[in-house]
Amino acid sequence: MRIDVGSRAGSYAVQIAPGESRRLHQLLSALAPGARVVVVSNGLVWRLLGDRLAQLTSEEPILLPDGERFKNLLTVGKVYEGLIRARADRGTVVVAVGGGVLGDTAGFAAATFLRGLPLVQVPTTLLAQVDSSIGGKVGVNHSAGKNLIGAFYPPRAVVIDPETLSTLPRREFRAGLYEVIKYGVIASRSLFERVSTNLSQLFARDTEALSPAIAESCEIKARIVEGDELESGARRTLNFGHTVGHALEAATKYRRFRHGEAVAYGMLAAAAIGARRGTIPGPDREALATLIRTMGPLPAVTDLPASQLLEAIGRDKKIVNGRLHFVLPGPIGSTQIVDDVTPEEIAHALAAIGIPNP
Ligand SMILES: NC(=O)c1ccc[n+]([C@@H]2O[C@H](COP(=O)([O-])OP(=O)(O)OC[C@H]3O[C@@H](n4cnc5c(N)ncnc54)[C@H](O)[C@@H]3O)[C@@H](O)[C@H]2O)c1
Ligand SMILES: [Zn+2]
Repeated sequence: MRIDVGSRAGSYAVQIAPGESRRLHQLLSALAPGARVVVVSNGLVWRLLGDRLAQLTSEEPILLPDGERFKNLLTVGKVYEGLIRARADRGTVVVAVGGGVLGDTAGFAAATFLRGLPLVQVPTTLLAQVDSSIGGKVGVNHSAGKNLIGAFYPPRAVVIDPETLSTLPRREFRAGLYEVIKYGVIASRSLFERVSTNLSQLFARDTEALSPAIAESCEIKARIVEGDELESGARRTLNFGHTVGHALEAATKYRRFRHGEAVAYGMLAAAAIGARRGTIPGPDREALATLIRTMGPLPAVTDLPASQLLEAIGRDKKIVNGRLHFVLPGPIGSTQIVDDVTPEEIAHALAAIGIPNP
């Protein structure tokens, strides 16, 4: 399956198929014949998946430390050093193999080294396969905030091999699956229903269930970012569940939740507001809550101070001209963006997910 994504810098293909990572060398020789290839990965991912990419290059991979706390400029510096050691030139292709942290970091290094090296993303977590590898956002964190430093830098290609997810820890997998559910809620009732009925096959990493779910998610993200590459309008619908989700992550210093888990709570909170306003039908809200509950436990939230969360939401970067844009669910498969959600409504939504009012 192939999805083409248009961008200002030209369009790129997202290739999705079981075993696709083993064919990467063929794809690269078509895309950039004769080009040098430098792989950037981390030790864990390279140990698990390196043999699949053995034909790609004889150069040593640049291996970065693993973890969100290493998604910073110091690590970007390590990539630059590796590229200098490899005598990379303008034509050298950077192949980023790993989760979202690796793709964002290596992607930012590729975007800036020699003012930009061709970049190929090989995402290996579900979150990276359905979200971070598509859309061209790359970047790193600063101690003053997450993703503060970055660029829009579309890759030349994205190669998604659902087989690589077989080694992903269940919690990581589930965290990515909440984003798939997000795509269903905002844009596709059939995707939502397919995930609901295929949960056990998905968790078993059955590629026959995974491939179409990943492909449809990529398709949805691709169509949305294409229409709004620089995030001024439609791309905001992708933030469904993220207003409260980001506040939960920030309030717990990014330590308690996997991003998708916080988004799961955020979707439930947005659905509570939507239900009260009548944007989402009762049975649809119930279906969302049931699906999220069936997927497994989420970290506790009952101890979190509502006042602190309200404050964090007030600081949300999606505020434009002093107004907080909030994505509410419509009937599953649709959204409404509003800018008049009151603190009282947010407090009610927090209560609905188990966080008592101040
Ligand atoms: N650029 C974007 O548009 C965008 C969008 C969403 C999220 N992000 C970023 O993505 C990051 C989160 O990415 P993530 O959820 O993939 O986390 P991650 O990159 O930290 O990966 C999670 C863990 O899984 C490991 N792993 C990766 N592939 C594996 C595999 N196949 N088998 C076993 N283990 C594997 C990783 O090494 C890591 O330890 C955040 O930094 C977030 O800001 C970026
Ligand atoms: Zn997200």
